[in-house]
Amino acid sequence: MMAGRFDDLDYESFRKLAAEAGLSRFERIGFPDSYREGYEAAIFADIRTKLPKLDNDGMTVLDIGTGCSELPNMVMAHCAAHDHRLALTDSVEMLTLVPEKLKVEKIPGRFPDTAPMIAATIGHADVILCYSVIQYAFAEGILDSFFDAALDLLAEGGEMLIGDIPNVSMRKRFFTSSAGEALHRAYTGGNDQLVTGIGESEEDKINDGVVLRLLARVRAAGAHAFVLPQNDDLPMANRREDILVKRP
Ligand SMILES: C[S@@+](CC[C@H](N)C(=O)[O-])C[C@H]1O[C@@H](n2cnc3c(N)ncnc32)[C@H](O)[C@@H]1O
Repeated sequence: MMAGRFDDLDYESFRKLAAEAGLSRFERIGFPDSYREGYEAAIFADIRTKLPKLDNDGMTVLDIGTGCSELPNMVMAHCAAHDHRLALTDSVEMLTLVPEKLKVEKIPGRFPDTAPMIAATIGHADVILCYSVIQYAFAEGILDSFFDAALDLLAEGGEMLIGDIPNVSMRKRFFTSSAGEALHRAYTGGNDQLVTGIGESEEDKINDGVVLRLLARVRAAGAHAFVLPQNDDLPMANRREDILVKRP
């Protein structure tokens, strides 16, 4: 399947991918297999270093935009081993593909519409994971309400990782470096002209301005927020980063 198939996705198109016949579990969450296959253990290891409360016992954990690949299975197994209560929210089509487990509650629907239901079910969460999701909220123009609702669900002392944010400014910085050029040559066999994107409009993409504005927004709302790099062994570490929120 071509990468272009996964451009311009939104909540509704993910519902269709979840239900479409013949797709791999990575394609259902919008990735060509090569972007995720064999990498998810490293992704989860990176997530765990950023969310140390996942290694406590008896936490309440929320995963927003769960998807249906191996990652939610890793999250569920880890939560079971630590006796966490886990809530998953995504479309009903996506959540149907996730196995039923004890102490795992599925709350189907579109976030932040599901926020009141989540609050009624689990109250506040000690740990919130929202991995590779906010770019779709951004594209749908609901980034601020999505972020504010997630922050409202975070308990005092809680940790929230808004992970795997594609940042077009970061991508440009990488592809104007020697390392970026070398990667491009290796990927294309040196035939294609490298398009760095310098000078292109960023209006419809998450860039440094969007990321830094989100930090300021969370901080103004009374929580700490930090931008963190991804571990180098992650497939898109050269152009994606994470936001860690800690509520004092
Ligand atoms: C790229 S996938 C990531 C899945 C999973 N978090 C992972 O990293 O493997 C994006 C997921 O977010 C979900 N999603 C997108 N917008 C959403 C929204 N507004 N509310 C809930 N889920 C959403 C999609 O249905 C899809 O499962």
